[in-house]
Amino acid sequence: MSGGALLAAMPATGLGSGLRAPSLAREAEAAGRFYGIAARIDQIESEPGLADIVRRECNCLTHEIDLKWNVVQPGPAHFHFAPADGLVRFAAAHGLAVRGHTLLWEQSTPGWALGALRRRRDWSIVADHFAALLPRYGERIAEWDVVNEPVDSEAGEDGYRRTVFHRAFGPGHVARALREARRHLPRARLMINDYGFDYDNPVEARRRDIMLRMVERLRREGAPLDGVGVQAHLDLSKGPFRPAILRDFLSALAGLGVSITITELDVREHDFAAPIDLRDRRVADEVSAYLNVALAEPAVRGIVTWGLSDRHSWLQEQRPDHVTGDSGPALNRGLPYDADLAPKPLYWAMHRALAGTA
Ligand code: G3I
Repeated sequence: MSGGALLAAMPATGLGSGLRAPSLAREAEAAGRFYGIAARIDQIESEPGLADIVRRECNCLTHEIDLKWNVVQPGPAHFHFAPADGLVRFAAAHGLAVRGHTLLWEQSTPGWALGALRRRRDWSIVADHFAALLPRYGERIAEWDVVNEPVDSEAGEDGYRRTVFHRAFGPGHVARALREARRHLPRARLMINDYGFDYDNPVEARRRDIMLRMVERLRREGAPLDGVGVQAHLDLSKGPFRPAILRDFLSALAGLGVSITITELDVREHDFAAPIDLRDRRVADEVSAYLNVALAEPAVRGIVTWGLSDRHSWLQEQRPDHVTGDSGPALNRGLPYDADLAPKPLYWAMHRALAGTA
């Protein structure tokens, strides 16, 4: 959609100034923050109009898939950097920052490395991975999810997820990974990134508690932890969202001296049978409520949505059996742009929240 078409689509209660097309990045920047999306360079390059929207709306990009270990090194001696490099090049060409996602995540660890870690418990496997990736991008990537999803409410007392890294190196693997990353990146913001902190239920209460203790311990031990990524995969079946819970959690994190990025914001719908406008309003209201709390916390440096358009969302096969109609999987409507690249109520809700006018 062109800037002009986007202006035409603005609601009567319009937000932008003058005749400039609205931009989430511009609103974020005005408040000293960033707005970004998880993106794939193959989609940006192949879909007409997408690159223009990305350039206009974002001042930060993160790889949805292509920077992960199983993509960049599918075999011990087989490297595949082309798509990762492509997104970094696109970002550089248009003056966008890049968030690095992610260095250590069991789910995206290639089979050969999983096997080697189980057999040999040798840290050099991890160190070699960091050495292959981090100097390649250097300061082009200023913020990294060094360890992804280390929290597990079902794990032992310490709440560290029992991954292949935990089994090989113990709970100290998180601090060790941060130190390993720091050797290559003296200035980057090094983060741990996790989900399930958003709602008022016992599992998420325990997850918040574990994360706070993990951060406190890492900081006390002097690990180079600069920030926490709060994924924020919101879910309309889990509500109602209670602002005080998120507010207290973010403020407790900030009190431990770390910065915060909302790293993977989107909304999983619940009632697909409702009329579209009601579905869209529910999604927008959830994000409004969430961002009003998140953006009131000064330690929150930026917001990333896990994609831009519903067409590309990882949340696609959400169709309950009783919903009939068009063929194919039901599109979840949890991202700011719809499948035809038109902005939805969620987009305007994000606009208002970022502009501080919600
Ligand atoms: O493109 C291939 C397709 O050709 C093939 O037929 C199909 C068969 O499985 O796979 C397709 O690739 C999949 C890809 O998504 C594109 O759809 C991969 O298998 C699948 O693993 C990949 O999933 C990604 C996942 O991370 C694992 O990397 C999701 O797109 C991505 O959204 C998701 O992102 C994660 C964050 O990194 C961490 N937090 C949760 C978030 C959502 O799961």
